[in-house]
Formats: sequence, C-alpha cells, structure tokens
Amino acid sequence: MLKTVATKPFSDQKPGTSGLRKKVPVFQQPNYAENFIQSVFDSLEGFAGKALVIGGDGRFYNREVIQTAIRMAAANGFGRAIVGQGGILSTPAASHVIRKFKAFGGLILSASHNPGGPHEDFGIKYNIGNGGPAPEKVTEAVFARSKVIDRYLTLDTPDVALDIIGTQTVGGMTVEVIDPVSDYAALMESLFDFPAIRAMFKDGFRMVFDAMHAVTGPYAKEILENRLGAPAGTARNATPLPDFGGHHPDPNLVHAKELYDLMMSADAPDFGAASDGDGDRNLIIGKGIFVTPSDSLALLAANAHLAPGYKAGLKGIARSMPTSAAADRVAEKLGVGMYETPTGWKFFGNLLDAGMATICGEESAGTGSDHVREKDGLWAVLLWLNVLAARRQPVKDIVVAHWREFGRNYYTRHDYEEVESEAANGLMADLRGKLGVLPGLKFAGLVVETADDFAYHDPVDGSVSRNQGIRVLFQGGSRVVFRLSGTGTSGATLRVYIERYEPDAAQHGIETQEAVADLIRAADEIAGIAQRTGRDRPSVIT
Ligand code: G1P
Ligand code: ZN
Repeated sequence: MLKTVATKPFSDQKPGTSGLRKKVPVFQQPNYAENFIQSVFDSLEGFAGKALVIGGDGRFYNREVIQTAIRMAAANGFGRAIVGQGGILSTPAASHVIRKFKAFGGLILSASHNPGGPHEDFGIKYNIGNGGPAPEKVTEAVFARSKVIDRYLTLDTPDVALDIIGTQTVGGMTVEVIDPVSDYAALMESLFDFPAIRAMFKDGFRMVFDAMHAVTGPYAKEILENRLGAPAGTARNATPLPDFGGHHPDPNLVHAKELYDLMMSADAPDFGAASDGDGDRNLIIGKGIFVTPSDSLALLAANAHLAPGYKAGLKGIARSMPTSAAADRVAEKLGVGMYETPTGWKFFGNLLDAGMATICGEESAGTGSDHVREKDGLWAVLLWLNVLAARRQPVKDIVVAHWREFGRNYYTRHDYEEVESEAANGLMADLRGKLGVLPGLKFAGLVVETADDFAYHDPVDGSVSRNQGIRVLFQGGSRVVFRLSGTGTSGATLRVYIERYEPDAAQHGIETQEAVADLIRAADEIAGIAQRTGRDRPSVIT
C-alpha cells in the first residue's frame, strides 16, 4: 500500500564533504532519515523502473535505515533494489556494484571513519550512475529540497529478509540481496597479479591487515586469506561490529596505534595496513616506516605499471589541493597531466570519466583509480602488495629510493577538533581578510610568497568551486594550508596542512615534526591558532 506521509522540513540537512552526517539520535528523530532520502529522490529525474544500489558499513542504525530506504525506493518507483547481504557494502564495493549493474545510483549508509554506536555518528550519501559521490549541483538541489519538503512516499510492507541472498519483492520493486564481497573480489583479481602475490606469501612474506571491526573484515578475509593464501589471522579485527568495538575506525597513527607500534617493533611483519569504517581509506606501514598517504600516492603512481591492470601506464594523476606535491613530480617524470582538486572524492569523478586521470589521492588516507569512482582502501593495499611482489624489496628501501630520485615532501596535518564554531569561522574569516597583505611578510623566519583562497575550475564541466582552503606559500616552496572540515558532527574541526620539500637526500632522515617545526610556528603566527582556539596543541597529528 502506497503511503504519502506528511512531514516538516529540518533545517540542517546540508550534505557535507561526503554526504549527510549526524549523530544517531538526530537521525532517529521521526521522519529525519525519510526526509533526506525523499529529498534525494525528489532531486533526481528519470529513475522510474531503474535500479538503486543500497548498502552500508554495518554501523549502528544501518539495518533500520536500509529497510526504510528499500520501502521508499519502491514507493518512489524504482524497479529494482540491489542490496548487500546483511545491509553491508563497503563504499568502493557499492561504487563497483552501481557500475557493474548499470544502476541509476546508490544510497550508501556510512559515516566513514567516524565512531559508531547509539550516541555516535551515522550518515547517508547518494552516489550517481558513474558510481561516484553526487556532484555539488545534486547535493545543492537535495539541500534546497530538504528545506521545503512536505511529504514522503513509502509503503506499508514487512521488512525485507536482509540476510538471505536471493530475490524478493517489495510493492512493485524487485529486491536482490547480493553477496557484498564477490563482485568486488573479482574486480581486484582482474587488476592485480594474484599469482605473484600468492607466491610472495608462500615464500614467507608476513603482513597484518587491521579491519578495525569495520566493513573491510569480510573483504580482507576473502581476498587476502582465501584468494591470496595469506595465513589465517592476517586480517585482524575482521568481524564488523555496530560500534566498531568502541573505537574510531580511522586508520591513522592515533587510532591504529597498536598496528603502528607492531610495525615499529623488532618483530614487525613485512607489511602493515588498515582501512576505515566503510573501507575507502587506507593506512600503509612498512617494517619500521610509516608511508604518508601523500607519499603513498606518489609511490603507487610511479610503480602502478607493475600491476597488470595498469601496465599500459597512467593517463594522468589527480590529488586534492592539501595533498603534498610528491605525486606532481611523478606526473612530470611520466609526462602525464596532474590535476589539483578541492578536498573530497566527488571532484575526481569528472576527471576519471573523461579519461584524464587514472590514479587519484588525498592526504587523508584516500587513494583510488578509475576502476571505481570512490577511494578504495583494499585496492591501495593490493596495489602495494603487487608492487612488493614485483620488486621483492622491503617497503622502506622502496620509499627511500623514491625520495632519493624525486626529493622528499615532508608532510603533516594538524587537526584541532571540536573547536567552537564561532572561533573557527572567525579564524578563517580573518585569514581571508588578510590574504592581500601576507605576501612579503615574515613568520618564524619564513617569507610569504603568495597567499590565496583555493578555487577550482573543473576542466570537464566548467563548474567553479570557491572557498576550498587558504593556501600560504613561502619562498622556497614550503606551504601551509588552512581549512575547516566538512565531515564533523560537533563543533568545528580546523585542519592545518603543512608541507616542506627537501631535494637533498642527506636531509631525508629528519623526524617529520622536527623537519617542519618552523612551518608549524609560522602557521600559528599567521592564524593565531592557540590564541583563538584556546588549544596549545592539535588533537590529532597525522
Ligand atoms: C575528510 C578528508 C577528505 C575526505 C573526506 C571523506 O573531509 O579531509 O580528504 O575526502 O574526509 O573521507 P573533511 O573532514 O576534511 O571535510
Ligand atoms: Zn571512509
């Protein structure tokens, strides 16, 4: 029975860097999820009878919203819903399934690396038919709709049996519950040299993959242990839990500290990796060396030809603006295009669709390629494994040799979390106000060369995205970037991105925070971070 339910708008349903993210109790308000999903459907055209992919990272409240989304999709006229078993689909797997089944789009329920549980975070994101996050013109339409919405459409039907693979019907719509892993695993097998990686494991190569009790557990078990023959237990914390075991499923040096400590110990395995809540981020650590995501992007781009899926070479490389320029030097050497986009994966979609870029990456532990339209944690791990299987050298040797050839981009990000929104906005506004006077001024001994507010002109569709982060470039090529996070759910998070280029190999062994100490001081002098936020140090350093 089709039901038209009257509703009132919520004023806070503006999608951020990656969909709508709020605390679970916010999403549990009557009609909150329904309003947003209906606003998405109302902003789309031409989906009648078409397929919608639905899946999530298994966090608290996932199953409830999956059922809601299925009913609403049927009521709104979709012909088919493709749903991951148990309501599970990692973000990259969802992107692949959308593409493989030529679906109209997909709803991904996730708050990525944010914590989960009854009082933690939840999120909903819409992806378009190319498998990638909806572009800004769609998210803006969704927000506009959410401000005036007065009804949503649903059905009076029982819950779908989410755990049973097979076909069911809801109203006039077919619901296919699929194995969330197999299509994705087959895609990985088509890109990488599985026999070579299998042989490496057989020869005693040891790795640890930390799934952080999040969505990649079943994917890692199937691919690393079943298909590649890594010993049982290689994938750790591999059972997805609704609250991620009480941890932040964020693969960085703070939240994956246990893995980091293991990799720095005398008994470290050859390779350590981790992924986040929804499986799109990656952490790469070799024995005795953490590989920064910016360096990992550059290294993967320089070595991608070693994997069968990329042996024809790269069409181009893209990175978000705050990501270090390490990959730029690789693009230059390869003679391919280099694109600098705003933060967030949605800006890579056009470049990938147009065949201008093959590999993309962000400093925030995101790397991916044109095989899907999302960043992809396990893909990055497998490309690393493929490179290691082809080169048979330790990670550390590969990284050090790369720096020797290209120079080293010392890089760190300082996050100030849950700062009062007013203080954070004031800091950014003041920075914007003084961009014109900064050039020529000296901070902590460094002279500002240029300063601007990054604006992106999409070379494919001509759209312009402004206010994407304040860049302060110093003489000699070092820089500091300031921006506010668009994914947080309480207060504001100030991100300060710090980078120094060092061509001299004799200077490549300095500890990172020490190597950029003058830039850290300059950032504080320029923006008055300590004084405005009341914090004398960042909450997280990555
Ligand atoms: C953060 C990262 C960004 C990434 C996004 C989604 O966004 O900085 O690179 O694309 O999460 O994973 P932010 O909170 O900075 O807006
Ligand atoms: Zn994520």
